Amino acid sequence: MTQTPDLSAALNREQANEELFALLRLPSVSADPTRTGDMAATAEFLRAKLGGLGFTARTEATAGHPIVYAERLNAPGKPTVLIYGHYDVQPEAPLEEWVTPPFEPTIRDGRIYARGSTDDKGQSYAHVMGVELLLSQGELPVNVKFLLEGEEEIGSPNLEPYVRDHADELKADVIVISDGSRFGPEIPSITYGLRGISYVEIHVQGASRDLHSGSYGGAAPNPINALAQIITRLKDDQGRVTIPGFYDGIDELTDAERQMWADLPHSDAAFAASIGVSALPGEAGYTTLERLWGRPTLDVNGIWGGYQGEGSKTVIAAKAGAKVSMRLVPGQDPERVTRLITEYVPTLAPEGTTATVHPLHGGRPFKFDLNSPYNHAANRALHRVYGRDAVFTRAGGGIPIVAAFNDLLRAPVLFVDMGLNEDALHSPNESFAVNDYHNGILTSAYLLQELGAPNTGE
Ligand code: BES
Ligand code: MN
Ligand code: MN
Repeated sequence: MTQTPDLSAALNREQANEELFALLRLPSVSADPTRTGDMAATAEFLRAKLGGLGFTARTEATAGHPIVYAERLNAPGKPTVLIYGHYDVQPEAPLEEWVTPPFEPTIRDGRIYARGSTDDKGQSYAHVMGVELLLSQGELPVNVKFLLEGEEEIGSPNLEPYVRDHADELKADVIVISDGSRFGPEIPSITYGLRGISYVEIHVQGASRDLHSGSYGGAAPNPINALAQIITRLKDDQGRVTIPGFYDGIDELTDAERQMWADLPHSDAAFAASIGVSALPGEAGYTTLERLWGRPTLDVNGIWGGYQGEGSKTVIAAKAGAKVSMRLVPGQDPERVTRLITEYVPTLAPEGTTATVHPLHGGRPFKFDLNSPYNHAANRALHRVYGRDAVFTRAGGGIPIVAAFNDLLRAPVLFVDMGLNEDALHSPNESFAVNDYHNGILTSAYLLQELGAPNTGE
């Protein structure tokens, strides 16, 4: 029997908002080397908060940004739940597109606007507040550990060694993560798969210096044109990636899985409209959800070369470059894919140019057990908040540490989301609906209750 005090009535929503605002004011951009002080301050903010809730809490220095670890193990005989989240955020650029400044959280139309509001400070902090809410009623129903990192958005380079070195301390029965998006506004969901990633730069070199485009144009190789050619050759007209061996060994989608996704209430027209486009181009033979969740892809994420200032300058650049990410699915290994593109791109360089590939980071794809008993506990918790059963989805994004959690901690991962795609994670004007934040706090509290209830596993 689960005890059900009215947690919703006990939640102090004003306080929850104010505290999240304070966290969101800290510009914890992990990619920005000028923000290392802000990163440390954010870690300390979280450590102090968890310490204040009676957790044994510390920040741990790494070669990069600090890790926050906290535990409260006062529920003997009960399961141990490790909650993972990240306090780092994406760069705020382009700044001019924000209606209100990214690090001055503001509520408009029922939404909290700020960088990191949904990814992932808001969702991580919902767990902190969920724990506080439970503590206001008595002792926690399970043992709780928090692992909050500051390098997720740059590929978690220092977390895996930390997890390896602290595997005993981090031991848990289940790892809870809220760092994705629910399927729809009224629909709770449990995510059971994440894509992996291989992220590289392509550099193209032409002449030894920038050239007068009249004196040399028509004779000299142009690295920007060359780069454009290389990029267009990386995908064919069926939307398939052309890198030899790219698709080798991938787990094909099963009919059952395709059917489960086809049954979800998804509309291509609504999806296209939500991002302001008229079509959704992608790999032939697959639906939109299949392309997003179950198929790999390749995208250019940035491009540079030549003159970018006001007005014109007649010049043929000596160099050009692009940032390219490949999203991977189970069966693909990021190191292998990185090697394949590194070997392939130089062969595409037009005469007179050289093209090289420079790896930035990678992350493994991962699929969780659809039949895990913890899914039932999560579903019960979500049902209490949203009044309906959860759907099972996969996600197009990735979280680099998750595969390592599975290898090193040998505990099942439970991915329970609070926000929505429309929260515009990574975009200007990122937001988190105030209601979703409060529902997230309740979800966290109910989930911990369900995980501590004797019927977990049935
Ligand atoms: N929270 C996202 C990942 C995500 C997004 C999962 C949507 C599920 C649904 C995470 O913060 C993120 O952005 N990850 C990066 C990883 C990369 C930097 C290695 C990503 O997917 O681009
Ligand atoms: Mn995230
Ligand atoms: Mn992110």
